[in-house]
Amino acid sequence: MRIKEILGKKLITDSITVSGWVRTKRTSKSVTFIELNDGSCFSNLQATVDNTEFEETVSGISTGTSVEMSGALIPSPASGQDIELQVKNIKILGGVSPDYPLQKKRHSFEFLRDIAHLRPRANTFGAVFRIRNILAYSVHEFFQERGYVYLNSPIVTTSDCEGAGEMFNVSTFNMENPPRTDKNEIDWTKDFFGKKASLTVSGQLEAEIFATSIGNCYTFGPTFRAENSNTSRHLAEFWMIEPEIAFANLKEDMDVAEAFVRHLFKKVIEKGGDDLDFINKRISQGITDLLEKLSKADFTRITYTEAIEILEKSGEKFEYPPSWGIDLQSEHERYLTEKAFDGPVFVTDYPKDIKAFYMRMNDDGKTVAAMDLLLPRVGEIIGGSQREERYDILLDRIKQLGLNPEDYWWYMDLRKYGTVEHSGFGLGFERIVQFVTGMSNIRDVIPFPRAPGLAEF
Ligand code: 4AD
Ligand code: MG
Repeated sequence: MRIKEILGKKLITDSITVSGWVRTKRTSKSVTFIELNDGSCFSNLQATVDNTEFEETVSGISTGTSVEMSGALIPSPASGQDIELQVKNIKILGGVSPDYPLQKKRHSFEFLRDIAHLRPRANTFGAVFRIRNILAYSVHEFFQERGYVYLNSPIVTTSDCEGAGEMFNVSTFNMENPPRTDKNEIDWTKDFFGKKASLTVSGQLEAEIFATSIGNCYTFGPTFRAENSNTSRHLAEFWMIEPEIAFANLKEDMDVAEAFVRHLFKKVIEKGGDDLDFINKRISQGITDLLEKLSKADFTRITYTEAIEILEKSGEKFEYPPSWGIDLQSEHERYLTEKAFDGPVFVTDYPKDIKAFYMRMNDDGKTVAAMDLLLPRVGEIIGGSQREERYDILLDRIKQLGLNPEDYWWYMDLRKYGTVEHSGFGLGFERIVQFVTGMSNIRDVIPFPRAPGLAEF
């Protein structure tokens, strides 16, 4: 039986077997106390082992040793735990060599990142990854309860959704000597897929195909961006949730996004248990109250133009001075969410020049029906928009941005055959894990981070 179930039920029994890894061992005159963790929950199970009976085994145990123990679960005579295991039999499954790097002291997150194969055994990372799991489950719960269809968009693609040229190539060419055309350019027609292929930056374009056929749907999958940003909020491989909503405008899109984020906060409070308590005490003081507050609050909604005005009038010294037309920097996002409004803020209707080709052109001809959701500390966690459903306007935008309309022939077809108003958004999964756990670096909320110069494990 796993320790979570045992502790949850405060189980009393004369016969049980548990297995796990020793966190600490403390020896007194007659008994040894072992704190056992099996990863099922934050808490350890305390076990008492008779020194004379198990002298040899006990001496072979240290932090990290894997053991199987059986015995009786009894009410604990000592304070600190409700029940404890009185060991009748103990077996070492795997010993630990003396160079085990995870000793019972506080290690820095940087150090633990270098031993990502061991860090899930550390308290903080166990808590973070179990909370990540709650969030993943809750994502599906939210959309399934509302009748959205889950679909998997392709990972290898030949279209650049964001048009930002930040894609990783996928090729089977010998890089030292790829086939070349008469003009001495690389001849992608001879490559595996017959054209230049990449890892996807977003499943949105494919989600739109399904939204305009089977209706509301969502993807939840890995996406890849070769942006060379060495920041605490960017990964080269991250997971994104992308709902696409048929017959919906930008306001309805934000309504869904807001309900979605609130649902995630609510579920973390409901299911976070010891993991959330630990985070609330040690990593991100007060996060439980904050999540509670945000799961009920209405999110602020302002336009980009209003946001710029607020920033300009703030009297704040920004590294990048705000002015209409610039992309919001993280210092601006923080000002809006932490000082101006003290909570989540939707910013809408951005200048067309700083947003992707597929966003619906507003009547002013200058802005598009875009929305970003900003959160305190982490900044942008959602990017979304109403999609341009008008064939001619979309074609113009694609050309204006220097993209090749032929690459988007099937996307254009959706506008030719029964086009409808539709909207959607993408939520960066690691960013929300980062927000609810208060971890300052995004590399510490994904099991195996990929970033410039980093692809170990
Ligand atoms: O704003 P983005 O680029 O939007 C899209 O990809 C749209 N196609 C989504 C849609 O409308 N279906 O990315 C969406 C979110 C961001 O708000 C951010 O949370 C996250 O994805 N994100 C990243 N997370 C980690 N590392 C990166 N390099 C990220 N880039 C974007
Ligand atoms: Mg964005």
